[in-house]
Amino acid sequence: MKPDRTERRHADAGGPPAVDPMGFFDPGPPRFGSITDVNERLAGAGYLADEGMSSVVYLADRLVKPVLVEGPAGTGKTELAKSVARITGSRLVRLQCYEGLDESKALYEWNYSKQLLRIQAEQVLEENRGWEEIEEDIFGEGFLLARPLLEAIRSVEPVVLLVDEVDRVELETEALLLEVLSEYQVSIPELGTIRATSLPMVFLTSNNTRELSEALKRRCLYLHLDYPSIERERAIVLARVPGISHELADQVARIVRSLRSMELKKHPSVSETLDWARTLVLLGVDSIDAEQAGATLNILLKYRSDIERASKELAGTAGPDRS
Ligand SMILES: Nc1ncnc2c1ncn2[C@@H]1O[C@H](COP(=O)(O)OP(=O)(O)O)[C@@H](O)[C@H]1O
Ligand SMILES: [Mg+2]
Repeated sequence: MKPDRTERRHADAGGPPAVDPMGFFDPGPPRFGSITDVNERLAGAGYLADEGMSSVVYLADRLVKPVLVEGPAGTGKTELAKSVARITGSRLVRLQCYEGLDESKALYEWNYSKQLLRIQAEQVLEENRGWEEIEEDIFGEGFLLARPLLEAIRSVEPVVLLVDEVDRVELETEALLLEVLSEYQVSIPELGTIRATSLPMVFLTSNNTRELSEALKRRCLYLHLDYPSIERERAIVLARVPGISHELADQVARIVRSLRSMELKKHPSVSETLDWARTLVLLGVDSIDAEQAGATLNILLKYRSDIERASKELAGTAGPDRS
């Protein structure tokens, strides 16, 4: 039996986080003072959240629970996790999910080429060590390639773990995630169990292309992110588009909102709103009329049929006097 170096390393670092008999993790010192504090700090980083969003972030920290953020593309799911990392001074560790993502890309893998080189060097140098000794050497930390989940778990500095677009992975990979997220530990047969020394904040995002397992949902706090209200979208535009006037930001938010009420194949997302607003500023537009809106619709809408339908409707309603 090999000595368990990992357990020892963590004992040195003060041991794993405390878990009470009911299975709840000790949250440690709070990252935020209150829900309002979350909201204000996010706003300071250019991310405009509503109260519901800020309270989920606040609770996630206090309850030590991952947040599952679900909603249409481009509504600020990924950006929320990035912004939380920024305002808490944490390193963002991102696991981008895709179909076929497996353990070796999510958790860890052994660095085979380095292991082979080590074995060859062994022969060249005629070190004559026994296999047991060599094995212990090449299955040590120096030969381990940590992938995002393991990296987040064993990080000593504070981490925000972003598991992005989790609905893209297969069910088996989802189960693997669940294991890590419910125990905050990773077991490596050759090395032992690696436990988190500081508990990361975890955000999982989903575009809802498939239902996630009940077990994963149960483990998480749920946040549905829909398109923002007109007021919040105007504020986002003002925060993110340098040089835009209040009037133009307001018009942009209103027109985008009206497009979202139309029956289209794909409604414009917040990122498209921002692209559109930047375009209008670049073109020197102070106030949008139907013609300018029509000419730049391709920034907001990506289907020809949507553009045609929207142009027709806007021609009937958009104009500089419209409020
Ligand atoms: N609440 C918000 N405050 C500020 N910017 C936002 C907000 N929501 C979305 N954005 C902007 O929209 C862009 C797209 O958001 P993103 O997080 O990539 O969407 P999703 O992950 O939901 O597809 C971001 O880069 C950001 O600039
Ligand atoms: Mg995203």
